[in-house]
Amino acid sequence: MPSVLHIEDDPVNRRLVAKLLAKAGYDVVDAATGLSGIRLAAERRPDLVLVDINIPDLDGYEVILRLRGMPDLEGVPIVAITAEGDKHTSLAVGADGFIGKPIDARSFPRTVERFLRGHKERSDSTERHLRDRSQKIVERLERKVIELLEANARLEEMARLRREFLRNVTHELATPMTPVVGYLRLLLEEELGELTPLQRKCLNSVLDSTQRLRSVVDTLLDVSSLETQRMHFYEREYDVATLVRQTTDAAWTRFGDAGIELITREVEPELTTGDPEKLGRALSHVLDNAVKFTPRGGKVAVEVWREGDHYVIGVADSGPGVRPDQLARILEPFYQVDGSVTRSHGGVGLGLAFAQRVCEAMGGSVVVTSPPGVEVAGTRLSGTLVRLSVAASGSRRES
Ligand SMILES: Nc1ncnc2c1ncn2[C@@H]1O[C@H](COP(=O)(O)OP(=O)(O)OP(=O)(O)O)[C@@H](O)[C@H]1O
Ligand SMILES: [Mg+2]
Repeated sequence: MPSVLHIEDDPVNRRLVAKLLAKAGYDVVDAATGLSGIRLAAERRPDLVLVDINIPDLDGYEVILRLRGMPDLEGVPIVAITAEGDKHTSLAVGADGFIGKPIDARSFPRTVERFLRGHKERSDSTERHLRDRSQKIVERLERKVIELLEANARLEEMARLRREFLRNVTHELATPMTPVVGYLRLLLEEELGELTPLQRKCLNSVLDSTQRLRSVVDTLLDVSSLETQRMHFYEREYDVATLVRQTTDAAWTRFGDAGIELITREVEPELTTGDPEKLGRALSHVLDNAVKFTPRGGKVAVEVWREGDHYVIGVADSGPGVRPDQLARILEPFYQVDGSVTRSHGGVGLGLAFAQRVCEAMGGSVVVTSPPGVEVAGTRLSGTLVRLSVAASGSRRES
């Protein structure tokens, strides 16, 4: 059964042509825009293409020019269908024929068949029409380029404002934290008078919440300074193995409270240079995710190893994993797989973005795989593996 691709934006016309051609034994595929038509033509290699001239995005002449440039479609008849389009221009850009609208239902299938058999219409003024058309295309291209440049400038300006907004909001949030934390400590240390057990309990829970706020604000500060390229990295000697152990130890009780088994492996000290405080915070974020997303009774494995001229810190969990289409996105600032307000986990979507910025600044990267596919600390788990890597020599990229 010969196949016909019909590129036309008007659904009524599409249906009419489909009906007429189906009755005459053709297999018809529709496209509503020039771009989708070109894509379908490349995918399906139809036996004949019908192109309406007056369509959105690329117009019919441009579509015909483009189709004529595709080696796969060589020899495939292309026929323009239109009410107001110009026959000579259609032929000049490479159409084999021209059918005027409204189409004549009775003769239409026969006309199509004639083109399929190799009939070609001719025009003697091809060159002039082709030049006119080329000029129109260039004019349109010029307008589009100007439009895109303007849109791009607007987007850059919006991104700049957004970065500034983030920085200002973060500073506004950070400033009042200092007296809050300070007075809380004074109260808890009973510098301002003795506390009843109930008062102490209340103040401790205020302190807990304040610390959570503090850590969100700290992350916001970090991300904001990274985005505006103002994060300062220290360069000093440290031991990766100890850093990983200390950071993991600090999270130990959280794993215990969450009913998750934490598996680690002791390794020899590995001296390198970089910013251990930032790397430790990056690792805390990844451990925090592992606690958050792994259900009670699950396992989390942490190990550091050397891979060429990088140190890799691997954190694997037995949690639900991350879908392949989400893997790249979860590294973006503010992106969360479940971003709804009703989600069961807290957070603002900055942990991995922060970790990525830190590792990149220290000459490495963050790579997430799900399932892990490798053993970490001698254990093969089924959820997610986050690999934080940093350059071993401490050769970091300036940021
Ligand atoms: N170990 C994991 N298992 C499953 N999903 C994960 C895991 N780690 C991260 N994700 C997904 O990636 C998203 C982004 O993680 P990220 O750490 O950047 O933000 P968050 O944990 O939601 O918030 P924040 O870190 O700012 O508190 C998470 O919301 C979650 O959907
Ligand atoms: Mg997180």
